[in-house]
Amino acid sequence: PRVMVLFGGRSGEHAISCATAGGVLRAIDRDRYDVVAVGITRAGQWVLADDDPDRWAIRDGVLPQVEDTSTHVLLPQGTTDRDVQLLRDGRLAAPLGAVDVVFPLLHGPFGEDGTVQGLLELADVRYVGSGVLASAVGMDKHMMKLVLAGSGLTVGRFRVLPAGRPVDAGTLDAVVADLGLPLFVKPARAGSSLGISRVDDAADLPAAIATAREHDPKVIVEAALVGREIECGVLGGRAGAPARASLPGEIVVTDTRHAFYDFEAKYLDEAGVTLACPADLAPDVVARVQDVAVRAFEAVGCEGLARVDVFVTADGEVVVNEINTMPGFTPYSMYPRLWDVSGVDYAALVDELVGLALE
Ligand code: DAL
Ligand code: MG
Repeated sequence: PRVMVLFGGRSGEHAISCATAGGVLRAIDRDRYDVVAVGITRAGQWVLADDDPDRWAIRDGVLPQVEDTSTHVLLPQGTTDRDVQLLRDGRLAAPLGAVDVVFPLLHGPFGEDGTVQGLLELADVRYVGSGVLASAVGMDKHMMKLVLAGSGLTVGRFRVLPAGRPVDAGTLDAVVADLGLPLFVKPARAGSSLGISRVDDAADLPAAIATAREHDPKVIVEAALVGREIECGVLGGRAGAPARASLPGEIVVTDTRHAFYDFEAKYLDEAGVTLACPADLAPDVVARVQDVAVRAFEAVGCEGLARVDVFVTADGEVVVNEINTMPGFTPYSMYPRLWDVSGVDYAALVDELVGLALE
């Protein structure tokens, strides 16, 4: 089968998507799959990309990015007359219809949020991962919490600051009175902790909201969750392959310069954070986390893969923080590592995900 590995994209997680693609390009069985690498530039151009995995690694803190090589494979805004002429002459083809399956290794808006999934549905092309609705729900922290809570799962307390509504002093006071301090201010639709602030002092709340609004006009404010930060992988969720959970892992922030598991700690400061895979948890807690992870996956209606992030409180309660429908997927990322310790190595994981999409 021909597989389009699709990465980069218009979101703030462009570089993380490139790093994820590097991992998949390295591991995917080239004897078995005819791989076409397609990058989406930050401006949204789809271009044929280098399929050499080394090109896409995060090295020495330098983040990779897709350049516009003018080998356009889809013709969005910014398409030149030359592209159109090439298309008319039959020298440029949108290859979407010429692949058996797309692996959209895209994180964040315009990729993980249902938009690309909708395009692929329209083009009648199969793809790895969740469909339009689950992707959209998983991207929006507000909708996600409504769906999870509505399905009987425990989520933390939160307030939403809708797009466009000015935030006056009364609103700020009500947020702090309701949620207490510290609290977390987040863009509703973003990932990799971009735009997220931890607020310890109410005076810092307006600046935190402004920071979040640089990423999304809709902002969610969450009460701090106290407990161990545990993540669980889920795989399957298509006919004949019921969703199953990996062993859980734990985020251990060892460097106190990181007030939380922020972008820097996630990708640039390897020493500051340890991923404990698997987490050292009692068997009954493991079972509870796995049960919650599969229920969250099913509640949102995910397919293929997702990583469910929870907090386990001191008295053993499992509170869902979020679900990620296209979790970080470099060989060092939590999701593939969790499957590795659960008996599915990186290459087998890629194989299973592509296989699920092709079924
Ligand atoms: N949004 C990042 C890639 C993650 O969830 O791992
Ligand atoms: Mg996320």
